[in-house]
Amino acid sequence: MKRILTIKAEEGMVVAGDVYNEGNHLVISRGTVLTKEIIDRLKYYSVFDFFIEDDKPIKLNSYNMDDLERHIFSEYKIESGGYYNKIKDSEEFEVFEGLFQESVKNIQDCFNDVVTKNKEIRVEQLLDSVKKITDDFKPDVSLFDMIHCIEEYDDLTYIHSVNVALICRIIGMWMGYSEADCDVLTICGLMHDIGKVMIPNEVITKPGRLSPTEYALVQTHTIHGYNLMKDLDLDERIKYAALQHHERCDGKGYPNKHRYENIDSFARIVAIADVYDAMTSNRIYRKGICPFEVISAFEDNIESYDPKVLFMFLERIAQSYVNADVVLNGDLEGKIVMINKYALGRPGVLVGGAYVDLSRQDNMEITALK
Ligand SMILES: [Fe+2]
Repeated sequence: MKRILTIKAEEGMVVAGDVYNEGNHLVISRGTVLTKEIIDRLKYYSVFDFFIEDDKPIKLNSYNMDDLERHIFSEYKIESGGYYNKIKDSEEFEVFEGLFQESVKNIQDCFNDVVTKNKEIRVEQLLDSVKKITDDFKPDVSLFDMIHCIEEYDDLTYIHSVNVALICRIIGMWMGYSEADCDVLTICGLMHDIGKVMIPNEVITKPGRLSPTEYALVQTHTIHGYNLMKDLDLDERIKYAALQHHERCDGKGYPNKHRYENIDSFARIVAIADVYDAMTSNRIYRKGICPFEVISAFEDNIESYDPKVLFMFLERIAQSYVNADVVLNGDLEGKIVMINKYALGRPGVLVGGAYVDLSRQDNMEITALK
């Protein structure tokens, strides 16, 4: 019998003793043969280490590239996530996580009610659980950092829906919208992916690349979402957000290849929140991307999004990291001292006492927050 770190666990290893989490609840029992799902479960419950039998792992099936990618990234995440680990360890995050899970449960129940029982959407209840979060926490970038720390285990669609709702609400506040409009925008974020419940789960959760047929099937979630809500007594902007959140202002989106002027303004905001969350959040199989890489990715595709909203959004995020310690090119340490309005993803940084303007240094980039 030997002790191993959970990050070193491999499929096929045999657990040598019952494993409990910090709350003394049994997570897995002695004799369990580890599978990818069980290892994910151990990580989800923050089990740091446990005992395994000395024997060679039982060969379940050989790693494919996706498994390998998951394996590498999950280790990388733990080693490089100093900034986010501090947030995860805070009492504030514990409160946030509790409220967050309540919202996830509500949205899950709501989707099920609409699809299987043909029930009306309890907008007020949904809204209240999200508002509790933005009322309790300062609605600024620190909330985005906490969203980043939520581990996405299963229930991907529901967690993503709450994330997008929170980001939408904050954008609405930053844009100076009325309370009533912020409420509608929040519901747009919560409901935008409801059509995914009509797509087979094995396609939605399939790791790796989708086949062209599968991708075409996934794209229909926009139309399904609209159809599920079209006869309900809801603000029209909520229905259009479901239909149009994958449209792009340059006409390269789906389902109708609409351009800027034909896309509802709230759907254009949901599009930004949706992509921001997809890039920054931690999935089991890969770590979220550093906010500055995300900002640069948006800047490279600026014509796809509503420029007024996007510029305000990216500038707010970039500004909030002035004075932040960062990692450059994976191993250099630096401090952000100045934001460049014309290249928000490439600010001015102090590295070893020298000022470096990243907008003039193609060979350097911020790879992590420290
Ligand atoms: Fe979507």
